[in-house]
Amino acid sequence: MSIITIRDFTEDDLAWMAALEVELFGAGAWSEALIREDFALGLRDYRCAEWDGERAGYAVWGPDGDVFHLMNVAIDDAHRRRGIGRALIDDMFVAARARGERDVWLEVAVTNRAAILLYRKFGFKDVRVREKYYQPEGTDALVMRAVVAPEERRKGGRTFIP
Ligand SMILES: CC(C)(COP(=O)(O)OP(=O)(O)OC[C@H]1O[C@@H](n2cnc3c(N)ncnc32)[C@H](O)[C@@H]1OP(=O)(O)O)[C@@H](O)C(=O)NCCC(=O)NCCS
Repeated sequence: MSIITIRDFTEDDLAWMAALEVELFGAGAWSEALIREDFALGLRDYRCAEWDGERAGYAVWGPDGDVFHLMNVAIDDAHRRRGIGRALIDDMFVAARARGERDVWLEVAVTNRAAILLYRKFGFKDVRVREKYYQPEGTDALVMRAVVAPEERRKGGRTFIP
C-alpha cells in the first residue's frame, strides 16, 4: 500500500520546486529567485506532497491582498492521477478552515482541463475570465472561488465571544 504524506517545505525543497515549475509551466514558471523571496517572507504556506517518501508535488496558498488564494498546485508527471492533487487541495481546505477563511480564490488557465475538473470536485465555481492573464502566451485565466463550508468551520471547535 502506498502512502501520501503532506508536510511543510524546507529550504531544501525550493530548488526542486523551481525545476518542476520550469518543466510544467515553461516561460510562465515562478523563478527560483521569486520562490526563495516569497518563501522567506513567510506569508504563505508551501506544502510538499510525498508518495512513499518521494517528493511528488506541491501546493502554495495564503493571503493575496484581502483574499485567501490558492496560488499553485502541481504534481510531477510520474505521480499524476493517484489522488495527490486532491490530497493537497484537501490539506489547503483544512488550513483555510483552521484560519476561519470564508472562501478560497484561484486562477487557472482556461485551457487547463485537468486542473479545472480537480477544482470543480472541491466546489470551486467559475467567477469570471481574466483575458490574457498568463504571459508570455497570453492565455486567459478562469477566476474560481469556493466557499469554505460553515458547518465544517464549526467542526474545528472555534470559540466565539458573544
Ligand atoms: C492538475 C493536477 C495538479 C492534478 O493532479 P493529480 O494528482 O494528477 O490529480 P488527482 O489524481 O488528485 O485527481 C483528482 C481529480 O482531478 C481530475 N483530474 C486530474 N487530472 C485529470 C486529467 N488529466 N483529466 C481529467 N480529469 C483530471 C479528476 O476529476 C480526478 O479525479 P479522478 O481521478 O477520480 O477522476 C496535475 O495534473 C498537474 O500538476 N498539472 C500541471 C500543473 C498544473 O496545471 N497545475 C494547476 C495550476 S492552476
